[in-house]
Amino acid sequence: MGLVTSTELFRRAQEGGYAIGAFNVNNMEIIQGIVDAAKEEKSGLILQVSAGARKYANSIYLRKLVEAAIEDSDLDIVLHLDHGENLEIVKQCIDDGFTSVMIDASHYPFEENVRITKEVVDYAHARGVVVEAELGKLAGVEDAVSVAKEDATYTDPDEAVEFVKRTGIDSLAVAIGTSHGAYKFKGEPKLDFERLEKIGKLIPNTPLVLHGASTVLPEFVELCNKYGGDIPGAQGVPEEMLRRAAQMNVAKINIDTDLRLAMTAAIRQFMVENPSEFDPRKYLGPARAAIKGMVQHKIRNVLGSSGSNL
Ligand code: G3H
Ligand code: 13P
Ligand code: ZN
Repeated sequence: MGLVTSTELFRRAQEGGYAIGAFNVNNMEIIQGIVDAAKEEKSGLILQVSAGARKYANSIYLRKLVEAAIEDSDLDIVLHLDHGENLEIVKQCIDDGFTSVMIDASHYPFEENVRITKEVVDYAHARGVVVEAELGKLAGVEDAVSVAKEDATYTDPDEAVEFVKRTGIDSLAVAIGTSHGAYKFKGEPKLDFERLEKIGKLIPNTPLVLHGASTVLPEFVELCNKYGGDIPGAQGVPEEMLRRAAQMNVAKINIDTDLRLAMTAAIRQFMVENPSEFDPRKYLGPARAAIKGMVQHKIRNVLGSSGSNL
């Protein structure tokens, strides 16, 4: 048990036609809910930390919580930097003990993306840390960057080949129609599986990553709305599409919005049903349980990663 890189997990996931879940973590209850689920499923697990998470919780608290989770669960866990903005942030995270980093220079022109990514790869590989990078632009909002739907661009398969060759990255995040947040599609959900297949054939040894892959579970949206929330028209990626992607070359599926919705739904429900309670443990407990249930469902029925812990 310990902090591990994703190399072996991805290799086995690609061979086995499943994907490893990468869950965004921001506090203790989120980490505990996810880890409890992964433990019961004996699943490989990536816990990822965004710039927003580092600002909110402070990297050191999150790393110590992840260390505690490893000790408590006996699981191997990948600690990953999500959407790293530059080499400075990557360096800090590697110094802090992260075993995997993402450099997201996807909003720069191709040559600049290659240059920045290659610099990160050289630094990280020299320290035994693996690197994910992104090519193409996902729509939606991340902490530092907002991309309007009309500015999103899908990953070009030929560019992907050149990008992987010139940078030496370990995994590639692709844009095929997913987006961050709770509003992924206006009408019928649609992903470009033809493009995904083509990329997979051209770079078969590079595990692919799907960002913006929450399913936006209707039960949680409905609970939020029932108990005073206002999240109309939220829609995620259908589960069968994620299963299909996992059977192709997608080895890592990123999930944050579903954690937020599960937690918020449970807290909203508790608050409305128990107006005289004011002990945070009373509502954070159900929130943690909701996260656990949701993650366990994903591992079993969507990612297919049960039993994949190294
Ligand atoms: O990629 C986006 C993730 O949902 C992280 O979002 O930067 O607000 O923590 P955040
Ligand atoms: P969601 O907003 O779909 O959960 O995506 C999260 C993500 O891609 C984190 O990098
Ligand atoms: Zn993302």
